[in-house]
Amino acid sequence: MSTTLLTATAPPNVYRDRRRRLGASLRRPMTIFAGSAAPRNYPANTYVFRAASTYLYFGGPPIEGAAMLIEPGNDGASGCVLFREPAGPDDEVWLGPTPTDADLAGYSGLPVSAVRDLNKLMTSVSGRGVVIAPVVCPRARETARRCGIADAASDDLLPIILLRLRKDEHELAAMRRAAKVTVEAHAAAARAIRPGRIEADVAAAFHAVLAAHQHQPSFNPIISVRGEVLHCSGYPNRLDDGALLLIDAGSEEPGGYACDVTRVYPVSGRFTPEQRAVYDTVHRAMSAGVAACTVGTRYRDVHFLTAKVLCEGLVAAGLLKGDPAALADRRAHTLFFTHGVGHLIGLDVHDMEDFGDLAGYAPGRQRPTEFGSKFLRLDRDLEPGMCVTIEPGVYLSPAIWKRSDLVAPFRDVVNLPQVEALLARRFGGIRLEQTVHVRTKEAGGPEALSDALPVAADEALATMRGG
Ligand code: GLY
Ligand code: MN
Repeated sequence: MSTTLLTATAPPNVYRDRRRRLGASLRRPMTIFAGSAAPRNYPANTYVFRAASTYLYFGGPPIEGAAMLIEPGNDGASGCVLFREPAGPDDEVWLGPTPTDADLAGYSGLPVSAVRDLNKLMTSVSGRGVVIAPVVCPRARETARRCGIADAASDDLLPIILLRLRKDEHELAAMRRAAKVTVEAHAAAARAIRPGRIEADVAAAFHAVLAAHQHQPSFNPIISVRGEVLHCSGYPNRLDDGALLLIDAGSEEPGGYACDVTRVYPVSGRFTPEQRAVYDTVHRAMSAGVAACTVGTRYRDVHFLTAKVLCEGLVAAGLLKGDPAALADRRAHTLFFTHGVGHLIGLDVHDMEDFGDLAGYAPGRQRPTEFGSKFLRLDRDLEPGMCVTIEPGVYLSPAIWKRSDLVAPFRDVVNLPQVEALLARRFGGIRLEQTVHVRTKEAGGPEALSDALPVAADEALATMRGG
């Protein structure tokens, strides 16, 4: 156990209500594990602890090794048990004081009698057909196996997903805090861009802001002059005049809620005309995508709407030939816009991706199999309180253009010499991303939580200059 700050994102009665609502749908008891910090090399050298998202959502205090048992028909307090590892005699010497059972009970909205020793978990679940909510931590999985806890089926997990899809006011407040720090960190990163520096200098500026706010990165930031490599890692490249730098990064506030934002800046502080044309196209697509995030809209339609707007710009730029809508229908955009338009976001940056497509895809909907569309992580009708990202992009990716299986079907509509010219100039890629909260029209329509960070080209350049 460690002296983790017990930072709750909701008051105890809200946690109780979430557990009660889950219990009303559960058919069998469920254990939800917190997980433990993962060591990098020798066991005591652990990386920062982050409790599992579903555990946090139902009011589990962020302490390592804990588990909650939630019974069908519970009232939020009775029928719920928190199991925690007992502190060892030397723990306080190494780790400082640990929270008391009263602290843990107060955080979770449980009576103190519902806080028990983890050693009692086995006898509490034995022979009762208890299932486990998804958890990646190997130690938690091993504990579950020893206790005879079975993997959950889709019917066990759907009630969790349906609750977590719509963010309540406490979750939205946490996401706004994550967005505020993300915007500040992005602006600092933009100001750190100078020809002759390297990507790591920009990464350092981003991380410094997060560290000062005691936030964590919500994923490993992508800060790269190779924007066409979608999840590029490492920061070794020099920032050369004429190059574009893509910054895809977000913060996670101490309660675990994430933000995810992408911006692209010209290293020199000026876009070339061809960079500017593509930038403005992606900006138009992103704005259209954000505006389309209205209640009842099918997210897959938002994806294809942004694809059509991108095709309009690609035709205007002379890279594609033909009618933009027909090009998008034929999926010609996938040569340039190689991924899905976004994903759920909340406690995880790709919210509930540990549930697989059960979370992202509405019942009866299947993930497509063709290149491009198969990377779409979400196909649900948007509901008030859902949070999603909108992140269209245009990439000149050598990995695409050397693949005849991808290029051959579109030879008649592609201006290949023009594409080859951009590849030769190492154009890279442009992606622009907002984290968006879906609201009813009466409540103001789609809310881009990361709106305070400028997107329009001239304003983005001003951000680089500290404006
Ligand atoms: N921001 C990285 C991603 O959404 O995959
Ligand atoms: Mn994203």
